[in-house]
Amino acid sequence: MSDLIHYRLEDGLALIGLARPPVNALSQPLRAAIIDACERAAADTRVQAIILHGEHGLFSAGADISEFGSDASFAEPDLPSMLVRLTEIHKPLVAAIGKLALGGGLELALACGYRVGEPSARVGLSEINLGLLPGAGGTQRLPRLIGAESALNLILSGAQINAERARMLGILDRIATSADQLLDEARAYAYELISCSAPARPAEAWPEPAEGLPDDFLTRYRAEHEPRWKSRLAPRLVLSALEAACLLPLEEGLARELALFKQAEASRQSKALRHVFFAEREAARIPGIEADIPLRKVDKVAVIGAGTMGGGIAMNFANAGIPVALLELKGEALDRGLMQIRKHYEISVKRGKMTTEQLEQRMDLLFGTLDYADLSDADLVIEAVFEKLEIKQQVFRTLDEVCKPGAILATNTSSLDVDVIAATVSRPQDVIGLHFFSPANVMRLLEVVRGKATAPDVLATTMKIAKRIGKLPVISGVCFGFIGNRMLEPYVREAHRLVLEGAAPAQVDGVLTDLDLNMGVFSMLDLAGIDVNFLIRDANRATTAHDESYCRLGEELYAMGRYGQKTGRGFYLYEGRNRKDDHEVVAMAERLSVELQVPRRPMDDQEILDRCLFVLINEGIQLLDEGIALRAGDIDLVWINGYGFPAHLGGPMHYAEQLGLDKVLAGIQRYRHALGEYGEMWFQPTPLLERLVAAGRTRIERI
Ligand code: NAI
Repeated sequence: MSDLIHYRLEDGLALIGLARPPVNALSQPLRAAIIDACERAAADTRVQAIILHGEHGLFSAGADISEFGSDASFAEPDLPSMLVRLTEIHKPLVAAIGKLALGGGLELALACGYRVGEPSARVGLSEINLGLLPGAGGTQRLPRLIGAESALNLILSGAQINAERARMLGILDRIATSADQLLDEARAYAYELISCSAPARPAEAWPEPAEGLPDDFLTRYRAEHEPRWKSRLAPRLVLSALEAACLLPLEEGLARELALFKQAEASRQSKALRHVFFAEREAARIPGIEADIPLRKVDKVAVIGAGTMGGGIAMNFANAGIPVALLELKGEALDRGLMQIRKHYEISVKRGKMTTEQLEQRMDLLFGTLDYADLSDADLVIEAVFEKLEIKQQVFRTLDEVCKPGAILATNTSSLDVDVIAATVSRPQDVIGLHFFSPANVMRLLEVVRGKATAPDVLATTMKIAKRIGKLPVISGVCFGFIGNRMLEPYVREAHRLVLEGAAPAQVDGVLTDLDLNMGVFSMLDLAGIDVNFLIRDANRATTAHDESYCRLGEELYAMGRYGQKTGRGFYLYEGRNRKDDHEVVAMAERLSVELQVPRRPMDDQEILDRCLFVLINEGIQLLDEGIALRAGDIDLVWINGYGFPAHLGGPMHYAEQLGLDKVLAGIQRYRHALGEYGEMWFQPTPLLERLVAAGRTRIERI
């Protein structure tokens, strides 16, 4: 028998332990081993019941994602047919779920007649996160187990639920007393089933999955949720599969599910989401640094500045159970900062996401201080004071005096040079940039900025700690704006220019949101603050402002005090949360066009889309060439998690690959010629793009 399975015969029971570390991904060899073992147990007259379990605890995290989109995905025994075969075995099958049963792993458990989980087990059908739907019976068996509505909610959320919730829904029959007891209690359960001659599968709890729901339930569900799906395909396919579960006999429903699954698997969106999945894993790898490099200990953290960012940053650590000292200059600012943090937690309590007890536990981990001496034992200090170089340098000089040797000194600067900051201390090897995004307690992205002198173990330790606080860390080199804001620059510039050439801000934004970006450029600027954008651009003017039309509109709005949402006026007018177009902005653009001699014309949506995205893509490729970004996938992660680029398009680099690099290059060259002097200046294809196309490459990588 294969070493992917441990098979034991014990007093009438066959115990089949899945043993493909780390997560029992259901690749073809493991599928073959499982079905062989089940056939053996089915044929053995001594076996009266079968227990499937994870040999090392964890049940199964689902399909082997690397198989999707390849022949291996449906190599025999394919998961759907294998699970059908399991349901035909005339002996009770018990799934003993340790740790995780996700995706195909849960579908395997659903094909068993009975399920018991350990108390900390989590289950879910996470396929939607990869642009797929459960394709091995999940969309058909789950509704028959827990009803159509609950099944739909679980499948569309892609969420993992805990054992108790799974039991309440009817996914688990029982919860074991502890993880250690799981297998024993699964055995006891199997013996009970044998002693009462239980059927191989109990009767379906919901033979009519839509029972009790209004006839137009699915239509209404679609109408209610569709706007949030934007152009995503997978949720719509899930709905079709659920419809089949409600209307068709199981066998036909399974066939329909399979067809829908294959449609999803072949889609560009799923390919893009799978790219994102692998990019996230890859992002943790640091070329040139061994995975087992000894890390520095981080048990105590300090944050300097209890403002918008400092408070949010501190919350991340408290949420992960790590004590944080929060330092401010004045008592008032400190009190305000701590109060703000408490308010955030209170909102979570109100929403039922946290108990009052947990709130107090987290507040207890936060220690406010005005005295740098309290930072002497911190392992990691993150500076989040005003964005002024002199102030930050002063803070770092003080840190150099008070912090213990080996402490990691991080700056949350968004636009200053990390190397210049590092040069102010006697230990630049301990300095790193940790660029959190706002709101820092919510946003998953963290740009980890590696300075010239940053020591390898400092980088590796911060990557690890970032994961510990639930962030997605992406490494960036030092340059103005790092990966994300540096790419934002040409994108914002191009949007401004388009408005001068005749587009309305709402047209530009509409084109971008039609592509499923969370927000258009101008709405984003209004939200982030036109003042913030102006000040950063102003500080960097020497390197960016080569022409007069450069963001002039934004600059005039800044001069008028129209900072965006916070002042009720920016590129748009705001009444409460409602955004309205402002003809005054259009009139300003018209006047500026005349002044700057920019000819106006009706703008075509396609041109808007091309121009905004081509400059974004071009800058991203340039960043890769410069070594600021390590991989094209890292750039995609930054734009998906920090700037609302749709994950189902895979990020700007993947999007460019899908368009075809030759087409992107041809497009950039086209606008270079069509837009006169402006085109000459701003539509210069980056050399790496030219090299890639010349070499006939289709993937963006350094060559
Ligand atoms: P903020 O103005 O809300 O907070 C700054 C805090 O630092 C204030 O509470 C101030 O009292 C305190 N402070 C100033 N000088 C200090 C000193 N010498 N010692 C101790 N505390 C001092 O500013 P915000 O928005 O939190 O920004 C902080 C840093 O984070 C800046 O470097 C900014 O560029 C960066 N950042 C901001 C983002 C944002 O969206 N707001 C995003 C990413 C980074």
